[in-house]
Amino acid sequence: MSTDSHACGRIAPAVRVPIALGERSYDILIGERVLDDPASYEGLPRAATAVVVSNPTVSALHGARLHAQLEGRYARVLHVDLPDGEQYKDWTSLNLIFDHLLVHACDRKTVLFALGGGVIGDVAGFAAACYMRGVPFVQVPTTLLAQVDSSVGGKTAINHPRGKNMIGAFYQPRRVLADLSVLDTLPERELSAGLAEVIKYGPIADAAFLDWVEANLDALLARDKAALAHAVRRSCEIKAAVVGADERESGLRAILNFGHTFGHAIEAALGYGQWLHGEAVGCGMVMAADLSARLGLVPTAFVERMRRVVARARLPVAAPAAIGVERFVELMRVDKKAEGGEIRFVLIEADGGQVGRAVQRPAPDAAVRATIAACSA
Ligand code: NAD
Ligand code: GLY
Repeated sequence: MSTDSHACGRIAPAVRVPIALGERSYDILIGERVLDDPASYEGLPRAATAVVVSNPTVSALHGARLHAQLEGRYARVLHVDLPDGEQYKDWTSLNLIFDHLLVHACDRKTVLFALGGGVIGDVAGFAAACYMRGVPFVQVPTTLLAQVDSSVGGKTAINHPRGKNMIGAFYQPRRVLADLSVLDTLPERELSAGLAEVIKYGPIADAAFLDWVEANLDALLARDKAALAHAVRRSCEIKAAVVGADERESGLRAILNFGHTFGHAIEAALGYGQWLHGEAVGCGMVMAADLSARLGLVPTAFVERMRRVVARARLPVAAPAAIGVERFVELMRVDKKAEGGEIRFVLIEADGGQVGRAVQRPAPDAAVRATIAACSA
């Protein structure tokens, strides 16, 4: 895969990134006023009722913009706020949505709009997959992480105390509305968390994009709109290609989980909501790079490169030593990629010294333990 050349400082025009999945195909619209543009809503399923699923934080900041557009299109526009936080990505929140839909006698044509970050998108998407065996939904991602990753590709889920995203469904949205202007209100810590998923796409699929991210990291941290537009677009293009080839993760799609096996263990060990998902993924990518080097797949210089770019994005690069190696390994066995108790890691394999390709494979226990010990502090 290649990356476009790009000059920072310009406002990127709204762009459309298609996800080709046959009858489940849809578009990601990326731009600065996507939310306010009536054209963004053209062609969405017709229905009497639209239901916005959000949380109090995002509703207060951006809810009115979405409602203003929906009210002209649907006879009834309802709204349900879930409590804000990863710890609420659970059955109780899911039931809040079902209760709301049933109390208001929502029919099977009702369109759900998930307005928020990855938590809202994942829970609302799962609710859409389940309610009356499936109602249409639209992703309106408001975090960088959601715009570059979670709103795209149809993975929906809630957490179980024993494992992250363990209860869920593949269910594609009808459209993704990625409005860059909503990122203006995002706390810095959340911006950094989103950058973890942006950084991810280079090592797994596009060496030139990793170069670009390194060169433009300061602009991204400063929320330069043109830089953000390119980062969201290129991330979505890469994700669209992977999901288009392997929608249900029978193989290739697992590369999108680079850093996640280690990261999910950190999140579960600390309790959901302590470290942000993106923070855990950032640290997890350094650990996966370390493991790749131990197995001779990449030069050790790549580990340092990953550590540097992750740290520059203001993300943690060492796991909490208090987790302990034994507990860490035990938690990784719950990973969805594990087969028969054997953990399968997404690792980077350098091709002629150049990164940009991921492989999925088990790793010797001793190497895994060495990585955990070396990457904890
Ligand atoms: P999040 O949804 O918790 O949002 C982060 C915080 O930012 C929340 O407090 C939220 O209220 C706030 N917020 C959201 N938009 C805002 C805005 N524009 N301005 C100010 N505040 C705003 O976290 P996230 O990082 O977006 O998503 C993480 C979740 O996504 C995890 O549960 C993870 O498992 C999931 N995820 C899913 C996929 C997938 O493919 N489905 C991929 C990656 C991550
Ligand atoms: N975020 C991983 C995936 O969508 O497959």
